[in-house]
Amino acid sequence: MGVDEIRRVAVVGAGLMGHGIAQEFAVAGYGVSLHDLSAERLAAALAGMRANLALLADHGLVDAARAAGAPDGVRATTDLAAAVGDADVVIEAISEDLALKRDLFGRLDRLCPPRAILASNSSTFMPGQLADATARPDRVAVAHYFNPPHLLPLVEVVRGAATSEETVATLVALLERIGKAPAVVQHEALGFIGNRLQSALFREALAIVAAGIATPQDVDSVVRNGFGRRLAVAGPFEVAALAGFDLWLNVSTRLFPEIASSPEVPAWFREVVARGAQGAEAGAGIDGWTPEEAEARKRRMGEALIRIARWEQP
Ligand SMILES: NC(=O)c1ccc[n+]([C@@H]2O[C@H](COP(=O)([O-])OP(=O)(O)OC[C@H]3O[C@@H](n4cnc5c(N)ncnc54)[C@H](O)[C@@H]3O)[C@@H](O)[C@H]2O)c1
Repeated sequence: MGVDEIRRVAVVGAGLMGHGIAQEFAVAGYGVSLHDLSAERLAAALAGMRANLALLADHGLVDAARAAGAPDGVRATTDLAAAVGDADVVIEAISEDLALKRDLFGRLDRLCPPRAILASNSSTFMPGQLADATARPDRVAVAHYFNPPHLLPLVEVVRGAATSEETVATLVALLERIGKAPAVVQHEALGFIGNRLQSALFREALAIVAAGIATPQDVDSVVRNGFGRRLAVAGPFEVAALAGFDLWLNVSTRLFPEIASSPEVPAWFREVVARGAQGAEAGAGIDGWTPEEAEARKRRMGEALIRIARWEQP
């Protein structure tokens, strides 16, 4: 199926990710169905969409009339068959549980038109782990968004061993049409691209703290106030090219033997987590944030992402 034939996108799982994913297809003018297990979840998702869209409209990032109308056009239903029976593309965003996802993919395969592409937003499961629950492995892929999905343009499109060229091309074209920035992951690799890169940085951040080189606060400051700002406009290859590959070769040759390569998570970080400091969601970061501070930091990040989106507009 080519991108021009796509009329309806169904999003299954209307939580943190699902409502933001559905919102963008609705604003772009696609027919959108949204499915979750309860009417309460669906109502919360539609309310979340309205709040997101009102904020985007306030900042001139979506047309105000479109923002106001888009959620009304969403077919929100707890009936899976009604949600996906006429879908051309399904994006699954249910809880990260392989048995649940495989069961759902089996049902989607039976309920969706044969042409439909089934894509999972899973962060950790591979297309092949879902494709073999269906009779259409060539039309199964992962479409991995980043949170918040309506503010971060990236979607990693992961090709499984059985995923067809056409499926990858159609997903990429669809995502580009609604203004996303898809990146193709050419074969199944845990962490895809983004989480592998984030984990490499986090491993070194932990190692720097473990070696007493700097505090977590100073590590964060170096990223936030230093090279992290550059990363919003240039990836690592672009940064290296701008500096000169010869210089980067020299730096890499000297530093690679010094930096972390251990497969183990450092014990001190395990202890932090065991003490109950679970990060912003639990209201307790390694700074010992209060719930109010965690909320304020989350808000500040959202506002900064909106400013970046405004600045990136043509
Ligand atoms: N949260 C993130 O930062 C993030 C980022 C990228 C990808 N993901 C992936 O997105 C998916 C969803 O994550 P989330 O953070 O939105 O979770 P969430 O808990 O906010 O939402 C999941 C929703 O799925 C619903 N659900 C569960 N089982 C279902 C079923 N069988 N049928 C229909 N609905 C069902 C739940 O009721 C819930 O509303 C996961 O696969 C996760 O790995 C999450």
